[in-house]
Amino acid sequence: MSDGKDCLNRVLLGLQNEQLSTIPSILFQILQISSDPQASAADLGAIFGKDQSSAARLLKTANSVLHSTLTRTHVDTIEEAIVRIGFKAAREVAVSAIICDLFKSSRTIHEYSLPRLWQHSMCVGMGARLLYSSLSVNRSYDPYLAGLLHDIGIVLEHQFLFEDGFRDAVAAQYQSGTSLIEQERLFLGTTHDVIGAEVGRRWGFADHIVTAIRHHHDLEVQNEEYRTLTHAVRVSEALCAELDYGYSDFDRSQEEAYRASREALGLDDQIAGMVKAQLEIEYMHMEQIDWFRVA
Ligand SMILES: [Fe+2]
Ligand SMILES: [Fe+2]
Repeated sequence: MSDGKDCLNRVLLGLQNEQLSTIPSILFQILQISSDPQASAADLGAIFGKDQSSAARLLKTANSVLHSTLTRTHVDTIEEAIVRIGFKAAREVAVSAIICDLFKSSRTIHEYSLPRLWQHSMCVGMGARLLYSSLSVNRSYDPYLAGLLHDIGIVLEHQFLFEDGFRDAVAAQYQSGTSLIEQERLFLGTTHDVIGAEVGRRWGFADHIVTAIRHHHDLEVQNEEYRTLTHAVRVSEALCAELDYGYSDFDRSQEEAYRASREALGLDDQIAGMVKAQLEIEYMHMEQIDWFRVA
């Protein structure tokens, strides 16, 4: 078994060597825009201007069926695209396109792969956002972002600890039918929530995002709004597992805890069914415009 502290240090060293600092810097700028009520479409446009693949994804999204207008005019510029899909949705596109870069890898373990984890991360983000709007939760914090980033620690383990316990942990998860987190403790001496939160904190993620990353498996959250956000991520995970959207670190032994999150959110069967149906529509749309492909 590896030592937990040693694993974290190897991840931090790996990030330095891979010069991934450029991803956090652009990500940081988007997060700043997200939390700044004065931020304008022009600020967001400037971010798209710096990153070609985000701009391409934005135009594709704006020209997709979901956002097509009656006149069906084709949108060609970043500014027009932001106006068409709206500031919040454009911000989701920007942050997702940049995060997507971290999920590039062809290594697989049973049915696990980074592209499948990408699918899981995006779907948990979409589900958390849909839960918030269906339950009319005050959106002072961004549920999409929390869902998108909740398993960032798994990505880091994959990239920097693959041969040092991560591969064995995932293989053991499939062989034993237990949760990834249990196997991480055995093979790595630490877990993805701990690694993800530590790196997120160093990258300057906001407190509520770091909290959702750190506690999405144990719910040890004191702040009530952060707690609601963490519940939403957990319920969304359960919905995505039911729909079989991507890889899931969820397992049956956690069902009780997920039920508690559902109750805490006041989610009844009718609303849960509605959210699930909306999630299915959004999933189909994202699949149509190739969002789940990690290029
Ligand atoms: Fe997780
Ligand atoms: Fe997850």
